[in-house]
Amino acid sequence: MKILGVSAHYHDSAAALVVDGVPVAAVQEERLSRRKNDAAFPLGAIEWCLDTADLEPDDLDAVVFYERSMLKFDRILTSALRSFPRSWRSFPQAIKNSIGEKVWVRGIISSHLGVPRRRILFTDHHASHAAAAFLTAPTRRAAILTADGVGEWATMTAGHGTRRDDGRTEIQLEREVRFPHSLGLLYSTFTAYLGFAVNEDEYKVMGLAAYGQPSMTEQVGRLIRRTADGAFTLVPEYFEFQTTAERSYSSRFLDLFGPARDRYEPIDLETPDGRRFADCAASIQRVLEDVLVDIARRLQRETGLKDLCYGGGVALNGVANARILAESGFERLFVPPAPGDAGCALGAALYADRIYFGNSDRTIPDHPFWGPSVDGGALAKAAREDNQLVDELDSRLLLDRIVDELSMGGIVGWMEGACEFGPRALGHRSILAAPHARETRDRLNRDIKYREEFRPFAPVVRSEDAARFFELPPGGARLARFMSGVFPVKPEFRGRLAAVTHVDGSARVQVLEREMAPRLHALLDAYGRRTGIPVLLNTSFNVAGEPIVTRALEGYSTFRRCGIDVIVAGTTLVKKRRTASPSASMQERVASWA
Ligand SMILES: [Fe+2]
Repeated sequence: MKILGVSAHYHDSAAALVVDGVPVAAVQEERLSRRKNDAAFPLGAIEWCLDTADLEPDDLDAVVFYERSMLKFDRILTSALRSFPRSWRSFPQAIKNSIGEKVWVRGIISSHLGVPRRRILFTDHHASHAAAAFLTAPTRRAAILTADGVGEWATMTAGHGTRRDDGRTEIQLEREVRFPHSLGLLYSTFTAYLGFAVNEDEYKVMGLAAYGQPSMTEQVGRLIRRTADGAFTLVPEYFEFQTTAERSYSSRFLDLFGPARDRYEPIDLETPDGRRFADCAASIQRVLEDVLVDIARRLQRETGLKDLCYGGGVALNGVANARILAESGFERLFVPPAPGDAGCALGAALYADRIYFGNSDRTIPDHPFWGPSVDGGALAKAAREDNQLVDELDSRLLLDRIVDELSMGGIVGWMEGACEFGPRALGHRSILAAPHARETRDRLNRDIKYREEFRPFAPVVRSEDAARFFELPPGGARLARFMSGVFPVKPEFRGRLAAVTHVDGSARVQVLEREMAPRLHALLDAYGRRTGIPVLLNTSFNVAGEPIVTRALEGYSTFRRCGIDVIVAGTTLVKKRRTASPSASMQERVASWA
């Protein structure tokens, strides 16, 4: 059975193709269109998925949309009417946004793909999140928790999933919290208040939190009330997201926390305002963690299960995830590589396969590499045309050369195989560097990533070596498989891992099993033999404002425009010739990609 999952029209559109119960292709639209967080209907991603499997739209048994667009429209309409007349300004915009494309999804899919309308299905948004978390995890029985901003009405669900002995699968989400009560929207309100982009920069709030003290948890606590059943409500007077798209916090919110940060003003921790913003970030982070830990703990007690599968955009918060693992009573915590809305494309397809059609359970490969592959030949061709030095090397020599570069402080653009599905570079589209010196971090922020100084970089370590350098609790290595947890760096190594250790001594470490990315594993091994520290700095291969690179030419273009010293794809290695000027054809091509 061939099922296409689609997420679109909100944030991070994506498509995923499941054939006979197993994913064969999945990619975010942004990776192909090169527009970051592209929310358009993912025609490019769909086309690529179908091409990869050599299918025509007519071959599909079903196309599954990741949420019920009519119900979402109902939520927008109902909440606008409830708060009328306060909402009258935002109402026409909300209606326009919904009616424009979002509601009539069946017609859009049918007209774009030529698939009969009866083959187009819809899942609940949180069922897609739940399926993405549970059906990709190597567990037979687990509690399920999902948390995000909002789907149709639900903002959080809790339940459990079972792979039965007869091959059937059950996912039951027994409880939900509904809009406007939302942990995701609470956190996003602070994201906006702190001058960052909502739905994109929540991780900056988490990064900033490490610089502050949670001295305002009492104020944050006034925004959220816990209910007797273990859920929560937000106190509406402090928010405006339910009535207007223009501002998510109210003037009463500002009375509590002071003036909001101007997004163009840098955060200076030497000033009272800078410290206030950092404290504010630390306080919302702490409250979020406390609520999540409490909810997860109750879920563990209720279900008595050992495993928790956890999805939704809130599951990108690695600091909270580490606390859930440590404090909830669950022994293992599975967060998929794409817990956000892009991952819902895969979740929706898997949900339809197992639950709607009732197909037998299948083991799903435990990795995130479902996107387009890189071609070393294309990299070599582009570099030669551009008058750069190209080496084609066998595996051992290639690794030696890369280790030479890394150990001399060089920065390496590393492309390997199929690209990751999800927001994180997990070893196939990474910028790699030595993890030792703070100067490396500063150089990366300044010359390559063009981003704020307070943002940390992540390390990658072989699973064999992880416990030597990081304080991983039981189950921590599993959570760190897809970089979903933040854990302490062992104090004795913080000095030697300065480029990847955050100000509070933590790191969002990726623990790499050999079978997931054997070449990166071999590189870590070679680097460890040379330097004694088998750890590398691993950050996504992109510059600020651009999606992660997908194909060789995008990698090469990025390499030429920033301070990366060496780029590798397959057996091809290109070292930047500092004096070379880009050829005219290359300049044109780079201009057209930029
Ligand atoms: Fe979501």
